[in-house]
Amino acid sequence: MIKRHKSLYPLSHHHHHALVRALEIRRAAEQPEPERTAALHRAGRALVEFWKHNGSVHFREEEEVLLPACARHVNIAEEPAFVRMLAEHAAIRAGLQDLEQALADHQPAQELIIELGRMLHDHVRLEEEQVFPRAEALLGEAGLQAIAPRLTQLHPKACEANPAEHREN
Ligand SMILES: [Fe+2]
Ligand SMILES: [Fe+2]
Repeated sequence: MIKRHKSLYPLSHHHHHALVRALEIRRAAEQPEPERTAALHRAGRALVEFWKHNGSVHFREEEEVLLPACARHVNIAEEPAFVRMLAEHAAIRAGLQDLEQALADHQPAQELIIELGRMLHDHVRLEEEQVFPRAEALLGEAGLQAIAPRLTQLHPKACEANPAEHREN
């Protein structure tokens, strides 16, 4: 368990739920057919729901709250972890848009779902191992406390892919 400043707990909490989704996809992919197809489809739908109600908000918190705070201390373009984080946000957004479309069109999406699970897993690792430690070092205690009120707590039921009203607090 990585030691984390308490101001970033909400973001790390979201990461935990993203990892649950990624694990669910990996397990679905390991099942034999015909269960595999149905399990991946379910996991894909759950991922889209998670994205719509939690993941997309989380990305914006990182881009609109965390990164601008860091940009007061460094040039983001010169920070490899931050640059990679933004590139992965774009790629994950693209994948999620494609997945939503594929599900709406009843097109097969197994490979895309598996790939998105992998991307999500690797993205969380990047942020927990590199982005957040760097942000903590840059912002310091006062800077971290200053951004805390702008980071969303997840609704406790968010991990059940039942996203209703997670932003109420
Ligand atoms: Fe992110
Ligand atoms: Fe994140």
